[in-house]
Amino acid sequence: MAETIDIAVVGDVHLQWDAEDIAYFRAASYELILFVGDLAGYTHAGGLGVARSIAPLGRRALVMPGNHDGIHVGQLMAEVMRRPRLGDLLGAGQERRCAELATALDEATLCGYDVRDVVTPRGALRVIAGRPHSMGGSYIAYARYLARRFGVGSIDDSARRLQALVDASPHQRLVFFAHAGPAGLGGGRADIWGCDFRPEEGDWGDEDLRRAIAHARAAGKRVVAVVAGHMHHAVKGGGRRPWRVVRDGILYVNAARVPRIFHRGSTVVRHHVAVQIAADGATATEMLVPGADGRSTRRGDGGPAAERMIGTLARWLIRRAPRTGGVSRRG
Ligand SMILES: [Fe+2]
Repeated sequence: MAETIDIAVVGDVHLQWDAEDIAYFRAASYELILFVGDLAGYTHAGGLGVARSIAPLGRRALVMPGNHDGIHVGQLMAEVMRRPRLGDLLGAGQERRCAELATALDEATLCGYDVRDVVTPRGALRVIAGRPHSMGGSYIAYARYLARRFGVGSIDDSARRLQALVDASPHQRLVFFAHAGPAGLGGGRADIWGCDFRPEEGDWGDEDLRRAIAHARAAGKRVVAVVAGHMHHAVKGGGRRPWRVVRDGILYVNAARVPRIFHRGSTVVRHHVAVQIAADGATATEMLVPGADGRSTRRGDGGPAAERMIGTLARWLIRRAPRTGGVSRRG
């Protein structure tokens, strides 16, 4: 019987990544580290800085681009406010920015619509990487780029593409890896991928991912875990959403504890989720790792002054965006 495979899942980083993290993960015994995306704050340069510091971890790492990664703030704002023409105009260069991100990551792998086999002395599993740059809500964010890069123009296209990856997967142990989690796990504001920024609430998970998971199950594949982030744990209006749900024998993890570096009492701790993949399923544990000296050496609360200023302006605009696209505490 296959033994347990240990995976670390790092939620939306948003620049919260420091020397203590690098030292911890270099020393840890994880066989795989999954970054569910949003390395960046509001600038491409900030995301590149995080990517360069992920590169030397010395172990296998996969990175899913989030809706903040490989883009610039104007493009993000156009997406948030659902201005597709403006987004198309501002989106020129996304290929170059994503290529720069992949180069900065070096041996860590930038993913999207692909499969990665993880073979360890303790067994093998297949990671199916979902739609990159997702903003949740079952629509295609950065549509022009996804059409150019992947030939995906709709949620139906995306679902078919993911289902083809499932069909090509001989492994019975599958892990889905995405930025936003799947639809179908609740339509309340405090559900694991529920919408907390509209009065009517709703399910903000991705329909294409939901269909791909259902397709895998219908084909008799063993889906052990689905890991993603994007919808931050702190819910607008108060409360926290669950970071873990088990449904139909599948472990769903939302790792978006934002900020992921924070004070617990007088100690600075760094968040990630440890997932143990066994032969018959998966379990997860939320990890709060204290620094060696209890202090943070992170890249700053939002990075350099220019990054902080851009972030403050972007968040102000987002709060005033029309309800069609207004976001608050999602990445
Ligand atoms: Fe996000």
